Amino acid sequence: MVDLSKQALNIEDLRRMAKRRLTKALFDFCDKGSEDQVAMRDNRAALDRVKIMPRAPRDVSTRDPGITLLGKRHDLPILIGPTGPAGFVWYRGETALARAAARANIPFTLASTSNTAMEKVVENGGGTQWFQLYVWRNPEAAFVTVQRALDAGFEALVVTVDSPVYNNREIDVRNGLVFPPRITGKSAIDGLLHPRWLLGTAGRYFLSEGRLPAFSNIHIPDEDKAEATGYVSASSGSFLNRNDTMGWDYVRRLRDVWPHKLLIKGILHPDDAVAAVEMGADGIFVSNHAGNVNDTAITAWDALPAIADAVKGRTTIIADSGVRRGSDVLKGLALGADAIAIGRATLYGVGAAGEAGATRALDILSAEIRRTMAVMGVTDIASITRENIRLPGQLPVSGHG
Ligand SMILES: Cc1cc2nc3c(=O)[nH]c(=O)nc-3n(C[C@H](O)[C@H](O)[C@H](O)COP(=O)(O)O)c2cc1C
Repeated sequence: MVDLSKQALNIEDLRRMAKRRLTKALFDFCDKGSEDQVAMRDNRAALDRVKIMPRAPRDVSTRDPGITLLGKRHDLPILIGPTGPAGFVWYRGETALARAAARANIPFTLASTSNTAMEKVVENGGGTQWFQLYVWRNPEAAFVTVQRALDAGFEALVVTVDSPVYNNREIDVRNGLVFPPRITGKSAIDGLLHPRWLLGTAGRYFLSEGRLPAFSNIHIPDEDKAEATGYVSASSGSFLNRNDTMGWDYVRRLRDVWPHKLLIKGILHPDDAVAAVEMGADGIFVSNHAGNVNDTAITAWDALPAIADAVKGRTTIIADSGVRRGSDVLKGLALGADAIAIGRATLYGVGAAGEAGATRALDILSAEIRRTMAVMGVTDIASITRENIRLPGQLPVSGHG
């Protein structure tokens, strides 16, 4: 089959390809944020406001975009963050993403709301894999999932703390989307209008597993099974409405049972970053969840400088939300992150063309990172500081550096 993703020049091209292939409901789920899309726009605006301050002339003929992250060497300063629907947009899409990440030698994070069984993703994906955890209504159920992730061989546990209630995703309610997917009049028409997804993804699941994709990686206690459908429109009492009681005491219990690296995802306040370090976390994700949760949340990029001032060097700082270009990655590093997580960019890639599309997304970002390093005048990631960027209203420095 012809791999159309090779023709993509940038992430936006992959986004358009995914849009053509996926049902409207599924594409909107991947592409849109909550409520009025304000936080999503802010994420882009915040990155666009940051300007690179180039240094030239410099010998930039040898450039190394590699980093050491949580004690391991990786070839790029990025990782693939958790996105629940990877296995819904492509047959075994999680494995496709994991394999693309392994080939690029960057970490991959499997979302707890994914479809392909975690053991299979570890086995068939290879590379460095982390597992992301949501805590559902019954907090004890999470410990069963965590034990399974430990047995499966994940190297890090990423505990997402920014979603105590289900996001207000009006677009999904309007589109009639629910997870796990159900066949309704609306979804059947949407599917028939997108035959490549219908046959290539839904059809393959039916043929191989006799069912549409479903959650395979969360432990749902028997008493909650009846409620564990209708994820997108989860009412406040539903099992799938996440957990609104979780505090640091609970996270500390997870720390006690997880012997490997533990990261806290969804930190935006410097005091919470400090609390994470004091609790014994190995890292944090500074993130507003791509604008999916709280439509008025501060952006990671506005939050980063104060968080870096508070904890840089004491923990690993990963940042995400809105990254579409290699230059965005370098801006995030200059603002204080040690690495940048990618969500939609690789999700568009896998939605457009599976593993080849995810690989294309990473190739595009890699080429852009290398090119931007050259025009910035830097040859390695460790030397990037706030001196490499200018923020709005900030005058150029005078100096002799
Ligand atoms: C469709 C979609 C699904 C996501 N699912 C999860 C998830 O299951 N768990 C989680 O912690 N974050 C989830 N995220 C958030 C991402 O991990 C990440 O924070 C965000 O996508 C980064 O922003 P970007 O997509 O603009 O790169 C999801 C994001 C998207 C777009």
